Amino acid sequence: MRLFVNTFPSDKIYNLDALTYAGNLENLKDIEDAANYEFVHADIQDLEKLTAIFEEKKITHVVHLAAESHVDRSINDPLAFVKTNVLGTANLLQVAKEAWKNDFSNTLFYHVSTDEVYGSLGDTGFFYEDTAYDPRSPYSASKASSDHFVRAYYHTYNLPVVISNCSNNYGPNHFPEKLIPLMINNIIHKKPLPVYGEGLNVRDWLFVLDHARAIERIFSKGTVGETYNIGGHNEWTNIDLVHVLCDTMDEKLGRTKGDSRQLISYVKDRAGHDLRYAIDATKLQNELGWEPSLQFEEGLSKTIDWYLSNTDWLENVTSGAYTAYYKAAYETK
Ligand code: DAU
Repeated sequence: MRLFVNTFPSDKIYNLDALTYAGNLENLKDIEDAANYEFVHADIQDLEKLTAIFEEKKITHVVHLAAESHVDRSINDPLAFVKTNVLGTANLLQVAKEAWKNDFSNTLFYHVSTDEVYGSLGDTGFFYEDTAYDPRSPYSASKASSDHFVRAYYHTYNLPVVISNCSNNYGPNHFPEKLIPLMINNIIHKKPLPVYGEGLNVRDWLFVLDHARAIERIFSKGTVGETYNIGGHNEWTNIDLVHVLCDTMDEKLGRTKGDSRQLISYVKDRAGHDLRYAIDATKLQNELGWEPSLQFEEGLSKTIDWYLSNTDWLENVTSGAYTAYYKAAYETK
């Protein structure tokens, strides 16, 4: 959002958000007064409201990132993912198609998706744009389904669409249910660090601003109808990553090296836990000249520093509903 508001000063950018548990307008305080920015409170499940917004605001381009995104939550409440990710995306597509009255000149529907739609890799190989879909969690099945709807609107109605599928993000303002911010939060508070299974699952980590840069590049220069994979070429087993977080934070917090590693606690594995994700982003690099700008060590260090200097933010988002979620999700593991 911030990158778009700053990159396109003469375009009006509307931030449509339902502000559910992870939504937080505090995160955009620095741009809330920008002349080309406006927040619109709405849920993509609400077809009528979307129709009115498109009409009133004369929306011409959509960058669709609204989603339920946490795999563990999808295991406990799959239908919430169907409603937001599948039905919500179909609503947005339908509203865009109708609002643009089948005259699609100067319009674009950009769907931001995930590498999880491709399933799970073994020890070798990569996900390419033409890798067959093989989603294995309710979350990834809902994202795969939404991707299919986007392509269906392209093929059936000629709606100009583009899709990107990205690997795991990390960085500031990340809700602490995901691995990296959860571990940072628990290390700060000297709480157990819950590593699922044996910690040998592999993820490909990308700094969030690099993802935003990729989205801007694809939005501006991508070819309609195409899919672009976005990834960091930066694979880590969970346990190695947790070790790096522990050691880096021990140093930053002035703790004895090794202290935080003592907090590691192996817990029951996630159901259907995908073993490995790894993206091949060559197409994006060759065709649109994008590549990650940050080395992982630098990105991780920046991220930890952000959390250490924003403990109020962390306190705010982890009070209330988060506590109940955490208890239910972890205290039975
Ligand atoms: O690959 C892109 C996807 O990455 C995004 O589309 C999803 O929205 C995002 O949630 C993420 O999915 P993951 O399941 O890979 O991310 P998560 O941070 O939940 O977990 C990363 C790895 O760490 C995974 O192997 C599970 C493990 N894990 C996670 C948590 C929260 C643990 O070992 N302990 C934990 O407490």
